[in-house]
Amino acid sequence: MKLEGRTTLVTGAASGIGRAIAVLFGREGASVMASDINEEGARAVAAQIEDAGGEARAIRTDTSREADVQAAIQATVEAWGRLDVIVNNAGIGGPQYSWDQIVAVNQSGVFYGCLHALAQMQRQGGGAIVNMASMAGLVGATAPGFPGGFGYPYIAAKHAVVGLTRQFGLDGAPHRVRVNAICPGWIDTPLIGPLKDAQPLLDWAVQNTPLGRLGQPEEIARAALFLASDDSSFMTGAYLVVDGGWTAR
Ligand SMILES: NC(=O)c1ccc[n+]([C@@H]2O[C@H](COP(=O)([O-])OP(=O)(O)OC[C@H]3O[C@@H](n4cnc5c(N)ncnc54)[C@H](O)[C@@H]3O)[C@@H](O)[C@H]2O)c1
Repeated sequence: MKLEGRTTLVTGAASGIGRAIAVLFGREGASVMASDINEEGARAVAAQIEDAGGEARAIRTDTSREADVQAAIQATVEAWGRLDVIVNNAGIGGPQYSWDQIVAVNQSGVFYGCLHALAQMQRQGGGAIVNMASMAGLVGATAPGFPGGFGYPYIAAKHAVVGLTRQFGLDGAPHRVRVNAICPGWIDTPLIGPLKDAQPLLDWAVQNTPLGRLGQPEEIARAALFLASDDSSFMTGAYLVVDGGWTAR
């Protein structure tokens, strides 16, 4: 029970990594506000947490809209009195999205979450912010047949998340607000659906991952639990790489 009595907000909680984080946080004793643009999906995750004996609520949030992010933070505070942890996880990727769409969610959305969570946590005297970056926030890639590797806007926005994590880490430190990021490698979620539909691309991803497989959402959730809990009490402005060895080459 590493998050006993903590109140948490997880964005992009309806699917994949966010869902695994919300469920694990619930199991670890946290109250969980499951937030997603997919309201039905967020409700399903909240129900799953409650069915397992946890405490959860759901809210529809489009993280690319600042007012929505503020409202989700406000709803968490109204429900449980404070915001101990925010996980800025919502993200999109793939050639079906424009530069502006990807930057709006993956970069601006994380910025709004950091900005408004820090203000709340500052008022209450502390907290933890966890940002979902990516190995695409650290390195480029040469994907077969895909100029732009992971995609130019995706690379740019994820690098920005690492930068925002450093800056908010500095800004939060005097207020006992820790800000850290996770840089996952290839994780088996709906986000990488197009990759899984193209065997050569999937082979490329798996063969270039030294551990030789895709990661599971739960393996990222455990890193998020570490960064959200007191286990990482001397970490801030930093990132954890959980990529099966991809960036070690
Ligand atoms: N899957 C991977 O290989 C991988 C690797 C590195 C980083 N990531 C990052 O992890 C995070 C989660 O991705 P995932 O793989 O679980 O994807 P996913 O598609 O399974 O889940 C993403 C969730 O975010 C929600 N979402 C999308 N746009 C939103 C918006 N504007 N506002 C609120 N919610 C929104 C979706 O509805 C969905 O529930 C993303 O930031 C992604 O970039 C994923």
